[in-house]
Amino acid sequence: MKDAAHLLRLAGLFLGGFIIFVLVRQALMPAEFGKYGHFRPGALNDIRAHTVTFAGRAACEMCHDDQLTVLKKGKHIGVSCEACHGPQSIHADDPGKTKPVLPDTGKLCAQCHEANSAKPKKFPQVITKDHSGGEVCKTCHTPHNPKIS
Ligand code: HEC
Ligand code: HEC
Ligand code: HEC
Ligand code: HEC
Repeated sequence: MKDAAHLLRLAGLFLGGFIIFVLVRQALMPAEFGKYGHFRPGALNDIRAHTVTFAGRAACEMCHDDQLTVLKKGKHIGVSCEACHGPQSIHADDPGKTKPVLPDTGKLCAQCHEANSAKPKKFPQVITKDHSGGEVCKTCHTPHNPKIS
């Protein structure tokens, strides 16, 4: 019986800890957490409130006829302007306000073309380090129509 007191004290300690955990959890958890899943439902409205930052290629093509003409001659016609240039809705709404920074072909092209066994075989891919010899891609390829020849 003497030993049981030890165990009871230990059990009491665990119970106390558990109650504190439940109370703190209750106090800190956002309302309705877990209603749809392991997240705060209010987060959905927060995300919806963000303004759209992509203008869509139709907008770009309206003003940038020259680039469209070049793109049409090559396979990058299937790639959206903003996939390379990033979201540009502020520029498209008012071109005078912001001038997009041109993408660095030392980084951009590898994002899609770095060789990777998970990519379909027929997708053009290179081991950029060996292929380019350390040069940026635009030394040899025109970004809007990359085929050489
Ligand atoms: C309403 C017309 C208009 C729309 C729409 C528009 N642009 Fe432009 N864009 C311009 C003008 C005008 C300039 C030149 C701005 C300057 O020189 O200050 C420019 C400049 C640029 C430049 C920089 C060129 C350079 O030489 O540095 C890029 C890149 C660009 N636009 C990409 C885009 C993309 C991508 C889109 C679509 C999301 C787009 N633009 C939509 C009119 C437009
Ligand atoms: C595959 C990626 C890619 C796509 C797709 C692409 N661009 Fe570009 N664009 C570039 C890169 C990289 C440069 C910078 C070239 C340089 O540094 O000389 C550039 C340059 C430009 C420039 C500056 C002037 C010029 O011609 O060099 C404009 C304007 C432009 N792009 C608009 C567009 C528009 C509009 C579209 C869609 C119709 C588009 N781009 C699609 C990669 C792309
Ligand atoms: C957002 C993805 C993306 C980016 C970024 C991108 N490409 Fe491409 N590239 C493609 C796609 C998609 C194709 C077409 C594949 C096909 O149709 O077989 C392609 C095709 C090519 C081809 C083969 C052209 C041909 O006619 O056979 C070359 C070369 C190429 N890209 C070089 C570049 C270079 C250089 C850059 C950087 C300026 C670049 N790519 C950036 C997606 C991309
Ligand atoms: C020294 C010149 C040079 C540089 C720099 C260069 N390339 Fe190339 N690239 C070529 C030549 C030449 C070809 C073969 C001709 C063609 O397919 O257009 C080629 C072909 C390609 C192809 C097509 C491969 C295929 O299987 O169809 C891709 C993708 C490519 N390059 C991506 C890049 C990327 C990404 C960079 C930058 C990291 C780059 N290249 C830099 C010269 C170069």
